[in-house]
Amino acid sequence: MALIKHNWNLPFNIIRCSHVECTVKDLDESRRFYVDIMGMIETERTKDTLYLRCLEEKNHHSYVLKQGEKSEVLALGFKVAFDKDLDLLHKHFTDLKLPADWVTKHGEERTLAVRTPMGIPVEFHARQTRVPTMMREFSKYKGLSPLRFDHINCFTPNCQSTYEFFVQELGFRLTEYTLTEKGDMWAAWTHRKGNVHDMAMTNGKGPRLHHTGIWTAGVNNIIHLLDVMASEGYVENIERGPGRHGISNAFFLYILDPDGHRLEPFTCDYLTVDPDWEPLGWDLRDPKRQTLWGAPAPQSWFEHGSTFRGVEVRESDIDSNPIIGQYEDHA
Ligand SMILES: [Fe+2]
Repeated sequence: MALIKHNWNLPFNIIRCSHVECTVKDLDESRRFYVDIMGMIETERTKDTLYLRCLEEKNHHSYVLKQGEKSEVLALGFKVAFDKDLDLLHKHFTDLKLPADWVTKHGEERTLAVRTPMGIPVEFHARQTRVPTMMREFSKYKGLSPLRFDHINCFTPNCQSTYEFFVQELGFRLTEYTLTEKGDMWAAWTHRKGNVHDMAMTNGKGPRLHHTGIWTAGVNNIIHLLDVMASEGYVENIERGPGRHGISNAFFLYILDPDGHRLEPFTCDYLTVDPDWEPLGWDLRDPKRQTLWGAPAPQSWFEHGSTFRGVEVRESDIDSNPIIGQYEDHA
């Protein structure tokens, strides 16, 4: 394993991760979970699609939920700085001999759909339809009081090559990483916007989406969401936490939506904008890596993920194992 240098010389400028597009089996059930329980804003609902955003967001969507036969992920969305960056990215992916096609997406001006070498469907846009921020509309705050879409985390069967692609070819910068006892890259956290991550990758059967992260202002918002979920019949959707990650310092919670797509409401990570930022390395066997307070993640956290439509999934190239919690059923 080798850490690679950040690539400052790419001609385009990816600003941040922006959204995810998934299929769900029942739009009404999804709306109840995302809007009534989580507290997201419904921007628009068409015959088969729900467009949602978080409270401070001024763009049309950060969650696009489409009616489908089974639960899948259709695309991971990223925002670029200017329209010309889309053309530069089209050339870049074409030169790399990777798929790059112009597609039409509701609520976006121009959209470029590409595939990473592993087949992950990524879409770039520069402008979404502008909508009002609800940040100062405090009477609308409920559930998690979700403020903004923060990050994407994917399972990858080869973390080293996925990390190298995002850093070398797309200009992402490494903030934290985990190595196995043999020195293999187990997980990597990379960013564009200046906090811990926009795109994280973790070893496992993949490629699959592990979770999307949603930022909220404080720990109490996460505790309140748990109370709301418990009182509204969503206890089974609580998977892990709340807790404090060693990695990223985030106060986290992992929950599953009605279709099994994992979400991470979180708060309290930190600033990483300095060009001379030095990545922080962790040992896979360090329990504080997962949870600073010591409680390991459950087995499901390492196994369950959302598949990308039409993308072949394969087993990990690495045979190391993380610490897994042995939780008894006390029912
Ligand atoms: Fe996360």
